[in-house]
Amino acid sequence: KRPSTSTPGQRGEGDELHQGVKRGERMTTATGTPLGDGQNSLKVGDRGPTLLEDFAFRDKMFHFDHERIPERVVHARGYSAHATLECLDAIPDLTRAAPFATKGKKTEAFVRFSTVAGNLGSPDLARDVRGFAVKMYTEDGNWDLVGNNIPVFFIQDAMKFPDLVHAVKEEQDRGWPQAASAHDTFWDFVSLMPESTHMLLWAMSDRAIPRSFRFMEGFGVHTYRFVNADGESTFVKFHWKPRQGMQSVVWNEALKINGADPDFHRRDLHAAIESGDLPQWDLGVQVFDEAFADEFDFDVLDATKLIPEEVLPVRVIARLTLDRNVDNMFAENEQVAFGTHNVIPGIDFSNDPLLQGRNFSYLDTQLKRLGSTNFTQLPVNAPRCPVAHFQRDGHMQTSLQEGRGTYEPNSLTGDDRGPRADVVQGYQSVMREEAGPTRRLRAESFADHYSQARQFFLSQTEVEREHIVAAFAFELGKVEDPRIRTRMLGNLRNVHEDLAQAVADTLAMPLPEASEAAVPTRTDLPESPALSILRNG
Ligand code: HEM
Repeated sequence: KRPSTSTPGQRGEGDELHQGVKRGERMTTATGTPLGDGQNSLKVGDRGPTLLEDFAFRDKMFHFDHERIPERVVHARGYSAHATLECLDAIPDLTRAAPFATKGKKTEAFVRFSTVAGNLGSPDLARDVRGFAVKMYTEDGNWDLVGNNIPVFFIQDAMKFPDLVHAVKEEQDRGWPQAASAHDTFWDFVSLMPESTHMLLWAMSDRAIPRSFRFMEGFGVHTYRFVNADGESTFVKFHWKPRQGMQSVVWNEALKINGADPDFHRRDLHAAIESGDLPQWDLGVQVFDEAFADEFDFDVLDATKLIPEEVLPVRVIARLTLDRNVDNMFAENEQVAFGTHNVIPGIDFSNDPLLQGRNFSYLDTQLKRLGSTNFTQLPVNAPRCPVAHFQRDGHMQTSLQEGRGTYEPNSLTGDDRGPRADVVQGYQSVMREEAGPTRRLRAESFADHYSQARQFFLSQTEVEREHIVAAFAFELGKVEDPRIRTRMLGNLRNVHEDLAQAVADTLAMPLPEASEAAVPTRTDLPESPALSILRNG
């Protein structure tokens, strides 16, 4: 039998640490030499210089000097826990995804919650989106659902993501703010980007200051695809519903908590799990087909839009329980590598241009962040199912893969021939017809940036609306450039007059003209000759 090419994901059995090495009390160098003294360097005489031959000193210092790795380019500040996903409602008619094959089936999982903008040491209660990333270790490989606690996103196209993040992160000429909060570059960007308006309403709402990770929803955001064993496909949107209910703090509380205990969210999660008060979420889906999608006047491929639950109710199919705290923050929380591209048979992508770009970005950044293509062998990332492929070598290779054939096709036999792809059971991308001229211009179906923002505002209670107004006024009040405030108010008039007026009143500003309501993307830019030809013949 061909051995697994990957380090087992489970923790060492008993006192076994790694590859048969036992845990022990005796202090050693990294290569196992027992130390006689771990505190004092080897010197000449009573006060003399330290000797270069002191391998024990060099071993200790060498490792320390290289402890840091790059923090995540976004979502640097996060906290994780181990979890179990249990299927409540088997849906083989919709998907062959292993976790939903039979009722009661349990799948090991790992969850990381995060803020987006802040650095590794930033406070937990920042006004920010929260990441909600779940890795499911299925028998068909790892499936990552890399979501947020807000069901929509700031932008429609992945090409804008670096701009968004440059605008939201600390400003490069001064180094602040360290966490998402009021500053000119962020408001400049979003005021010029009407497609951000819906997400902005959510970000200024109580959703962006959850009381704890335990009391927030999660969303896959994009439209994905389910695929069943017959190759039939439907669209699907994923939702995590907290069984604890939803709670937020008010801004005044957030500021005080950040001052008193910037670790409030991670401490809360750790304490709940440690005390056995295990947090749970229901995993729900909105499933629909092309015909249903075509009935909307927005595009289901547009990540700035949601499908209202009143129109399409969420069907609960599984339950996630966070049941074990991490043992080692670095090995697990820092080294875990999520990616939207990690899918399993039964799950596929839609043409959402944000999702398509994400599928490139995560793997790319993780090579930089974790330093080797072999990060999938780290225990937190290693699949719990057998792994067999023709990849080999690379930095930090730990696999003792045997056999001669590490290429295909090959005609060797038995163990030497290596694994073979399985055309029936293996992953097959959904067959779909794609055609049309190459173009960068977005479809008209992506052009309405305000209707759902208005729906969200109107769906809020009076108190919640007051919080939204207060948040806009607080944030815009910190913006130094008055042109940005004015532009933002002009956009808000397209959401709702009451909102724009209340924010303007709080800022003691006159209400400007409403900005152009539906701004078709890029019409302000000169059209390329190629596009003119396509349009005009
Ligand atoms: C983290 C890129 C949009 C959720 C990251 C990271 C990158 C990235 C490079 C760091 C990953 C790492 O170092 O391991 C992008 C790009 C996007 C995008 C290019 C848009 C084009 C989104 C959206 C969501 C999201 C729409 C939510 C639906 C997350 C989460 C993490 C993350 C939860 C943290 C994962 C963790 O806890 O390790 N993203 N992102 N991102 N992103 Fe995105």
